[in-house]
Amino acid sequence: MSMHYGDTYHELIKELRAALLDERKTAVFYAQLRDISRSFEGVDSFAEARKDELDHAAELTKLLEQLTGSMPEEALQPVCPPSFSNYCEGIRMAIEGESAARVEYKRIIQKTSSREIRGVIKEIFNDEEVHLAKFRKLYEIECRPGYYAESITEDPEITE
Ligand SMILES: [Fe+2]
Ligand SMILES: [Fe+2]
Repeated sequence: MSMHYGDTYHELIKELRAALLDERKTAVFYAQLRDISRSFEGVDSFAEARKDELDHAAELTKLLEQLTGSMPEEALQPVCPPSFSNYCEGIRMAIEGESAARVEYKRIIQKTSSREIRGVIKEIFNDEEVHLAKFRKLYEIECRPGYYAESITEDPEITE
C-alpha cells in the first residue's frame, strides 16, 4: 500500500514539474503573440494570459518546494517557446495548449486527495478555462476561414 502511495506521489511530482515547465514556456510564447497582435483584444488577451501563466509558474514552484523541500530545477532552466509561422497559427497553438493544460490539470486534481494541492490546481484550471474561451473568440474575430492557406502560400501577384 505504501508503495502504491509512493508511486502516486512520484507521478504527481513529475506532473507538477512538467506543468511548471509548460507554464514558463507558454508565458514566453504569449509574450511573442502579444507583441505581434494588431488589435486591442489580441494584446489584452495575451498580456493577461502571460501574466496568469507566470503566476501559475510561481504557484507551482511554491507547491513543489513545499512537497520536495527544494527549489525545482524547472523553475530556472532556460525555456524555448514553440515556433509558429503566423499569428493565426499561433492562436491555434495557444488554443491547443490551453485545452491540453485543462486535461493535464484535471488529471492532477483527480490524482491527489490533498485539499491544498487540489485548491491550487483548481484555481489554475479555472484561469486556463478563461484563456481558452478568450483565445477561441479571438480566433473567430481575427482569423477568417482560409487565413492559413492564404498566409502560408506566397501571393502570386507579389512574386510575379
Ligand atoms: Fe497556466
Ligand atoms: Fe493558460
